[in-house]
Amino acid sequence: MSAQPSPHGAEAVSEAAERRWAMIVAIIIAALVVMMVVTGLHWAAMPPSRVETVDVKSLHIKGEFVEQNLGTTMARDGGVMVRLIAQQYSFVPQCIVVPADMPVTFRGTSTDAIHGFVVGTTNANTMLIPGFVATFTTTFRKTGEQLMPCHEYCGTGHEAMWARVQVLPPEEFIAKARSGERVNCVAG
Ligand code: CUA
Repeated sequence: MSAQPSPHGAEAVSEAAERRWAMIVAIIIAALVVMMVVTGLHWAAMPPSRVETVDVKSLHIKGEFVEQNLGTTMARDGGVMVRLIAQQYSFVPQCIVVPADMPVTFRGTSTDAIHGFVVGTTNANTMLIPGFVATFTTTFRKTGEQLMPCHEYCGTGHEAMWARVQVLPPEEFIAKARSGERVNCVAG
């Protein structure tokens, strides 16, 4: 006669299995909650790009983001740099000239609220947070004019906050930039 597990024994086994699985699910949920809290606090406390700070109070007066330093410049080594500021409710400069098919580095920050921008349908896209310098490098593939709207809600004027970006053929841009001065959208 083989040993039949008693009905009571089977119940105990299934109960233990259920409890084990409940425990595993509880551990998974707890791990997910911990991940949410840790990443939430971590990402909220600092911008996701390289952390570089700037003093909002003296931004207009001294340093990299004074007005005469904003806009597009080309260094001797051919490096193209765009510096810009976002404020309620405009970008400075309002029109940005960049070359196609050359790497362009953007450096920007905000003087008041959180702003952001995206250039047309390109991957030039960043947030601009007061106190932090946002920087990225991209290459524009298509020439022509693109719109650059603010894409972070920043107040009542948000939907009217945008700039234009003129993407020039490289040779035309280089001809304009050769003087070493800032390149602007004014023709000639
Ligand atoms: Cu600036 Cu929205």
